[in-house]
Amino acid sequence: MKNILITGGAGFIGSNFLKYFISNAKFNKIIVLDSLTYASNFNLIKNNFKSKNIIFFKGNICNKKIVSNIFDNYNIEVIFNFAAESHVDNSIKNSNKFVKTNFLGTHNLISIARLKWQNQLKNKLFFQISTDEVFGHLKKNEPKFKETTNYNPRSPYSSTKAAADLLIKSFSTTYSIPYVITHCSNNYGPNQNKEKLIPKVISNILSNKKIPVYGDGSNIRDWIYVDDHCKALLNIFKKKKFNTTYNIGGNNQISNLQLIIKIFSIMKSSYFDIIKVNNIKDLIEFVNDRPGHDYRYDLDTTKIFKEIRFKPSTNINKGLLQTIKWYVSNQ
Ligand SMILES: NC(=O)c1ccc[n+]([C@@H]2O[C@H](COP(=O)([O-])OP(=O)(O)OC[C@H]3O[C@@H](n4cnc5c(N)ncnc54)[C@H](O)[C@@H]3O)[C@@H](O)[C@H]2O)c1
Repeated sequence: MKNILITGGAGFIGSNFLKYFISNAKFNKIIVLDSLTYASNFNLIKNNFKSKNIIFFKGNICNKKIVSNIFDNYNIEVIFNFAAESHVDNSIKNSNKFVKTNFLGTHNLISIARLKWQNQLKNKLFFQISTDEVFGHLKKNEPKFKETTNYNPRSPYSSTKAAADLLIKSFSTTYSIPYVITHCSNNYGPNQNKEKLIPKVISNILSNKKIPVYGDGSNIRDWIYVDDHCKALLNIFKKKKFNTTYNIGGNNQISNLQLIIKIFSIMKSSYFDIIKVNNIKDLIEFVNDRPGHDYRYDLDTTKIFKEIRFKPSTNINKGLLQTIKWYVSNQ
């Protein structure tokens, strides 16, 4: 029964993971540390803190004093680090916060963990939630990314995530800090900020607003339902396969344009009474491509299947319908 620190637990994946972890894992205490940026939604997690074993701190992962106090007061043994600036477009406009939170924040967490854990590293773990974007991008017929693919990040966002991964690996080599790093593809599901593609499409269709599409919409992403991601993380944790990295993919590659058409057709058949537009083409507006826009991501997930027996179980149509339902009732 461990004391767990979850950073970024009020964000999209962190909030879903908190819920999943509480229902599916044993723990002594869970501490959630989140600075509650625009991307967070505290209301969705606040009920958890009625329990005396689940405690929330509003604070920045870059803050030495706050992180240090949490370690001292709660004897933290495991960190799941979700806290990040996560939107690529924002990182293109200004990368300052990305360097601070994603790189320096991770450095602060792992440095304090090293200090507090000293040489008592048994049962300790730094679990870093990273991204497939650290590998760069693929052309149409290039083979999938493996865990061993060289890093080649192409946006300020992905380069700060890549830098954090390298730092963690160096702390493992130098100070033997036990770690796991996971590279997950694009997540979708409830509680994602409307700046991201799927919530933006759903919300613009609901309010009959134009949907901006970068370039010609042919860029391909792999989508995973957020609960599948959470399950993969927990399974890795439970199987204690540490000091290694895992790809987590959804086996759902689809172009942005095809995805928008799919969302519209699901909404049209389930929510025809509240949708004003008949043809999605009337809402799509092609806009100048994102600078350095990655063309395609695709992950080889053989390792997580062989070692953890994990395979995503949510079919994209079902996952999208659940997501749409959530946004319709939480508009
Ligand atoms: N969303 C995806 O598709 C995806 C895919 C792969 C990996 N990831 C990674 O998963 C993690 C979570 O992503 P997300 O989509 O939930 O992001 P998000 O932007 O929805 O949530 C991030 C959370 O971190 C908090 N936060 C930001 N800066 C902080 C700081 N300095 N100190 C404390 N808290 C801070 C925010 O308030 C927010 O609650 C990130 O590390 C991201 O890189 C995301």
